[in-house]
Amino acid sequence: MPLTDARLVELPRIANPKGNLTPIQGGQDVPFAIERVYYLYDVPGGESRGGHAHRTLEQFIIAASGSFDVVLDDGSSRAKFFMNRSYYGLYVPPGLWRELENFSSGSVCLVLASAAYDEDDYIRAYEDFRSWLATQ
Ligand code: TYD
Repeated sequence: MPLTDARLVELPRIANPKGNLTPIQGGQDVPFAIERVYYLYDVPGGESRGGHAHRTLEQFIIAASGSFDVVLDDGSSRAKFFMNRSYYGLYVPPGLWRELENFSSGSVCLVLASAAYDEDDYIRAYEDFRSWLATQ
């Protein structure tokens, strides 16, 4: 999957002096039906997450609070996305290596996913990712 298929998506924002609200509808704001939601929090300073690719899973990554970087890699090029607004999401198609790093203190990384957790969908070594790409 080429890196250019990844994209930042601006989400709806319902602004209110009492606080803002962002709704997300699967298949509408996010280009897949949402099957699973998880979030990363209490990430210690200097730690990174990710470090794998998915064979089929689609994901949508939001900085629900704070900020972090998402680095995507399609085997030939890399792109870094700075996530720091809770009304933007990053669509990550299948077949890309990802690293999440530079988490700010107290940040929350919200991830919407197209399927249930399945360890068999992961490629956890970069050299295996390169080999898998060659078979696609
Ligand atoms: P992993 O996806 O490797 O985390 P990250 O990419 O954020 O660094 O998952 C870490 C651990 O959590 C791993 O043992 C699998 C488990 N896990 C689940 O049980 N269910 C889930 O939905 C996810 C995302 C992970």
